[in-house]
Amino acid sequence: MYLHDFYSRFTLDESLAEVTGFNPYYLSIESGLEDKLMVNGARLINLASNNYLGLAADDRVKKAAVEAVQKYGASLCGTPIATGYIDLYKRLEGKLSAFVGLEETMILPSCYQANNGLFSAIAGAQDLIIVDRYVHSSLIQGIKAAGCKIRPFLHNNLEHLEGILQRSTGYRQIFVVTESVFSTEGSVAPFQEIVQLCQKYNALPVIDDSHGIGVLGKSGRGILEEKGIEGYQGIYTASLGKAIAASGGMISGKSALIKHLKYYCPHLVYSTALIPAALAGIEAVLDIIDTEFGLLKKRLTSYQQIIYESLLEGGFSVVQAKTPINSIKSGSKENTFIITKKLFEKGILTTPFIEPAVPQGEGRVRLIAGANLSEDTIAEAAAVLKEMGRL
Ligand SMILES: Cc1ncc(COP(=O)(O)O)c(C=O)c1O
Repeated sequence: MYLHDFYSRFTLDESLAEVTGFNPYYLSIESGLEDKLMVNGARLINLASNNYLGLAADDRVKKAAVEAVQKYGASLCGTPIATGYIDLYKRLEGKLSAFVGLEETMILPSCYQANNGLFSAIAGAQDLIIVDRYVHSSLIQGIKAAGCKIRPFLHNNLEHLEGILQRSTGYRQIFVVTESVFSTEGSVAPFQEIVQLCQKYNALPVIDDSHGIGVLGKSGRGILEEKGIEGYQGIYTASLGKAIAASGGMISGKSALIKHLKYYCPHLVYSTALIPAALAGIEAVLDIIDTEFGLLKKRLTSYQQIIYESLLEGGFSVVQAKTPINSIKSGSKENTFIITKKLFEKGILTTPFIEPAVPQGEGRVRLIAGANLSEDTIAEAAAVLKEMGRL
């Protein structure tokens, strides 16, 4: 039959969902990120979003988004280089640069696009990229597309990284790429030491701070503030769809580089600009962080601790938490699905990670309790988790 062979290659293997009786992916969410989330007609405690500071459904953020729609419309229907570069966009670039303490910023439709487009615009066959083996898919795909030499280093392992740097000579440029907070583990990169190694070996650091921006540092400025890194000479990327509670991605760094990328990074140049509602929402979130970060972070940390202790009490094997991310070591993909299903049935929504998102047999079930959840909701979740281990 016409094209039959082609389409028959794409039959989805649903055996895991059939064996476990549960498919945790593409659930139908029927509400905004309120205290409880409406999923498949049931109200669930949401421990699955990256809404760290709980600002996604904040009234002030919604108001700013609505006002931007009233002023600029729903979309700019153009790329930033054409009709997408409104005054709000330009102002936000400046505010984001000031926020992370770097010279210049460009805003893309997503951080996946930022990470995906960055490397082919700055690296090529004569270059080497040394990368932490646990980094996000967007970085991996972006690095592969650059066509340069790639060497992975063991997760957060400075000795291994230095060994590779020592042995790597003859390249036009060496880059060292990592994340601030690793999203499945909650581990934090020893980034100050990585920057020092880069200085020693003349390499350029690239950090993805998607899970650090708005969370790390004494005023929420992210990994550079957290580690006390001043005068950072490398490249910085981050998602605006996590603590910053909108969507979009940013690339920040030295002025000359960002100005160049604004003309030569196709993922920006040829893609419709972020919508006004998102741009205004980000601006509102930055203002809230300026005044309320201390309070929000305190709640986030306290909730993380309650969830962590409840998981331990429930008998779960948990990654030692250093950030708002709690991660159950669930092992096989079957077990990962089963734990997620049991939690779902008890009214808690979590995020399961199976291969290829994590190494084979190292499944994780992630729980993030955003600062918007009420103390009663956290107490309810804690009671379920403590009880769950005994089931
Ligand atoms: C570490 C990291 N980088 C990049 C991204 C992609 O960000 P965005 O959702 O803005 O495309 C994610 C999102 O999952 C992430 O966790």
